[in-house]
Amino acid sequence: MTWVEQLRAHEATCRRAPSAHNTQPWLPEYHADEIVINVDQSRSLPDSDPTGRDLGLGIGAFVETCLIVAADLGLNVTAAPGPRLVAAPHRYPTPFRIVDIESRRVARGRYANGPVDPAVLADLEPGLVHLPAQDLARELVVADRWLFGTPAVAAELRDWLRLDPRHPRYHLDGLTDRALVLSRFEARFLAASLRAYPVTRRLGLAALLAVSGRSLLRYDGSILVMLANGDDHIAAGRRLLRTWLALARHGLAVHPLSQLIDCPVTAARLAERVGGQPLALFRVGRPLAEPTRSARL
Ligand SMILES: Cc1cc2nc3c(=O)[nH]c(=O)nc-3n(C[C@H](O)[C@H](O)[C@H](O)COP(=O)(O)O)c2cc1C
Repeated sequence: MTWVEQLRAHEATCRRAPSAHNTQPWLPEYHADEIVINVDQSRSLPDSDPTGRDLGLGIGAFVETCLIVAADLGLNVTAAPGPRLVAAPHRYPTPFRIVDIESRRVARGRYANGPVDPAVLADLEPGLVHLPAQDLARELVVADRWLFGTPAVAAELRDWLRLDPRHPRYHLDGLTDRALVLSRFEARFLAASLRAYPVTRRLGLAALLAVSGRSLLRYDGSILVMLANGDDHIAAGRRLLRTWLALARHGLAVHPLSQLIDCPVTAARLAERVGGQPLALFRVGRPLAEPTRSARL
C-alpha cells in the first residue's frame, strides 16, 4: 500500500477533527502521491462565519489531525500549501497519537471549580490569553442575545441542530441534544422555539435564551483566547488542535464559545481586553461528567 492508501484507510480517524457546528467541511481528494484537502462549500456557514475564520480553523484542525494519524502510522508526511498532504523525508514531529485523536471531545457541561494551573498554561504554545470565566459572564449574555436575535445566524444554527434522536442526520453531523447537554424538555423547547422563530423572536425569545446561558460562566473557571499570530487560519487551526490535545493530556476539556468573537459588540470589547485579534475562545476545565462522543459522516 502507498502512504496515500494507508492514510485513506484511516480516514474515519482523521474525521474526528473538530469543526464549528460539526459541519465537517473537509473534502479530501486522493491522488497517487498527494492528498488535496478541498473545502466543501455546502458545509460552510456563510451567515455565522462570513469571514471564513471558523472554516479555515476547521480545515487546519483536519490537516493537523491527518498529520498526527500519519505520524502514528509511521508514514513520512507533511503539510504543503493548498492545503495538501505530501510525502516528506521524515515523520511529522508530534507528541500526539491516534489515541489522543480518538479520545478528544468538546465538553459543554459543568466543570470543576478552580482556574487552570499556571504550570499547564506555561506548557502551551504561545498566543493564548487567560481570562477568568466570570469576567465574560455578562458578555456571553450579550453575545447569545445577538446569536439568537440575528435571523440568518439563528437559522444556520437551526439547520445544524439534531435535537431529536429520530432526526435523520442524528448520527452523521451537526450538534445533538446530547452533545449540547440538553434535557429532553430543553431540547424540545429549543426545537419548538426555533421552528416558530419569527414569532418567538418578536416575543423576546432572544432575551430568554440568552438568560439561559447566564450561569455558564458564573464559576471560578478559566477561559483561553487564542490570538492571531501572524499565521493564516489554516495554521491557526492546526495550532488550535494541538492546544486542545495538549490540554486533554492534562485531563482538561474545552468548550468553545465562538459567539463572543462573532458578535460585533462583544468581539470589539474582547479585542481591546486581550490586546490582539481573537481567533478562538474556549472555556477550559475538568468536566464533572463524561462528554458525549460527537457524530461523524
Ligand atoms: C473553529 C471552531 C469553532 C467552534 N465553535 C463552537 C462554539 O461556538 N460553541 C460550541 O459549543 N462548540 C464549538 N465548536 C466545537 C464543535 O461544535 C465541535 O468540535 C463539533 O461539534 C465536534 O464535536 P467534538 O469536538 O466533540 O468531536 C467549535 C469548533 C471549532 C473547530
